[in-house]
Amino acid sequence: MNERPSVLLVDDARDMLELLRRNMAAMGLTPFAANNVVDAIEVLGNSPVDLVITDLNMPGIGGLQLVKYLSQHHPGLPVLVITGYPDLNNAVEVMKLGALEYLVKPFTQDELQKAVENVLGARVTAPPTPEDTPATFHGIIGRAPSMAELYRTIDRTRNNRATVLITGESGTGKEMVARAIHYNSKWSAAPFVAVNCGAIPDQLLESELFGHVKGAFTGAITNRAGFFQAADGGTLFLDEIGNASPAVQAKLLRAIQDKEITMLGATKSQKVEVRLISASNGDLPTMVRQGTFREDLYYRLNVIHMQLPALRQRTADIALLVEHFNARFSKELGKAPLRFPPRILATLEAYSWPGNVRELENLVHRLVIMKDRTVEMDDLPAHMKMQAPQSPPTSTLTTLADVERQHIQRVLDATGGNKTKAAEVLGIDRKTLREKLKGVEDQTIRK
Ligand SMILES: Nc1ncnc2c1ncn2[C@@H]1O[C@H](COP(=O)(O)OP(=O)(O)OP(=O)(O)O)[C@@H](O)[C@H]1O
Ligand SMILES: [Mg+2]
Repeated sequence: MNERPSVLLVDDARDMLELLRRNMAAMGLTPFAANNVVDAIEVLGNSPVDLVITDLNMPGIGGLQLVKYLSQHHPGLPVLVITGYPDLNNAVEVMKLGALEYLVKPFTQDELQKAVENVLGARVTAPPTPEDTPATFHGIIGRAPSMAELYRTIDRTRNNRATVLITGESGTGKEMVARAIHYNSKWSAAPFVAVNCGAIPDQLLESELFGHVKGAFTGAITNRAGFFQAADGGTLFLDEIGNASPAVQAKLLRAIQDKEITMLGATKSQKVEVRLISASNGDLPTMVRQGTFREDLYYRLNVIHMQLPALRQRTADIALLVEHFNARFSKELGKAPLRFPPRILATLEAYSWPGNVRELENLVHRLVIMKDRTVEMDDLPAHMKMQAPQSPPTSTLTTLADVERQHIQRVLDATGGNKTKAAEVLGIDRKTLREKLKGVEDQTIRK
């Protein structure tokens, strides 16, 4: 896999950091993000960085100090300084210290790109062409440009323990990607431990993660290690991180900052070395804005961000996935693979896949069990055929949320209101369906 340059972004302003992150990813660079200088220096210590883009005015330690630090500890590392306050003295000083470019806010996307290209020179790589893209990476199937970018970003985490936040709809492969990050890394022989923060009751999560000593609470009859200790040396995957309580959030922050944890009821802390990967299909930035998720922890968990595309955003991969699951399940069942005629594939490509790859996987599994040779239109569930390929008149075009609501309603009607069955058909879990149903019911009430 050809390496692409990585860039460390340092800015205390959330919007600016996200904007930079998007722009750098669009330019084909792997962005690492930090919202203060201390975190930035930590990222530099354990990640390969080819370029630093830093804000100048930040609370606490300013960008100027970072530039100084870089000139001493990373001489030759290109630095691009951004600031909202043009000040000639500052400009001269940062240039003397080795910053190569100086960009004054507000700047356009073009100006930013030019500045980055100037600083990096020929190192900015052209976006990969489809032929360069492998169709699979550690079991993940997909050849879409968004998937190619994902594989490259995963590969950039191979030799460092930078935290990774994976976001994406249900069934887009978040857990799969977490595993790929671990097994592609140089710590692949160490444990990979997955914890579903949404499935463990609030009061238990803290002791499950950090462990407890005998007598810490009623029922704690022996010392018990937590998931952090179990994952020591490897990777801890925190699924549905948005469910972590304020107490757990505070302890996680400490674990990341100090690389040590304290068991419940213990007086002494202990060192742990783990890479934290978190996943969320909720909207963490909204939770941060609403004050239910700590902003400092959000940044600490989000040094590298991987946003997984929904299946309907990479329809060209559907045939590839069908072929993959068809081969796998028919082999498992000792049958010859099924034939999927072009009309069937076109119907699958036109469908919206609210349950993403998991929904497709379940469908192919069912078909391989039920059918022997060729898949016919009648074999597809009715709700899939309703979205059969045809271009609707613009007046009937509707929002994605509406399509999803209508689709859920149709499936519910078809299953006689049985939510467990409906969730299975949709390829989502019951909890997700319940959340989505809130939307359906709200809508119905308003009508
Ligand atoms: N790109 C992919 N290639 C092959 N299989 C995939 C891919 N993405 C997802 N899958 C399969 O789809 C199923 C769901 O994947 P996974 O559990 O990783 O999704 P998720 O994003 O964690 O979903 P949820 O939000 O519901 O927990 C798994 O069986 C996985 O093997
Ligand atoms: Mg998952």
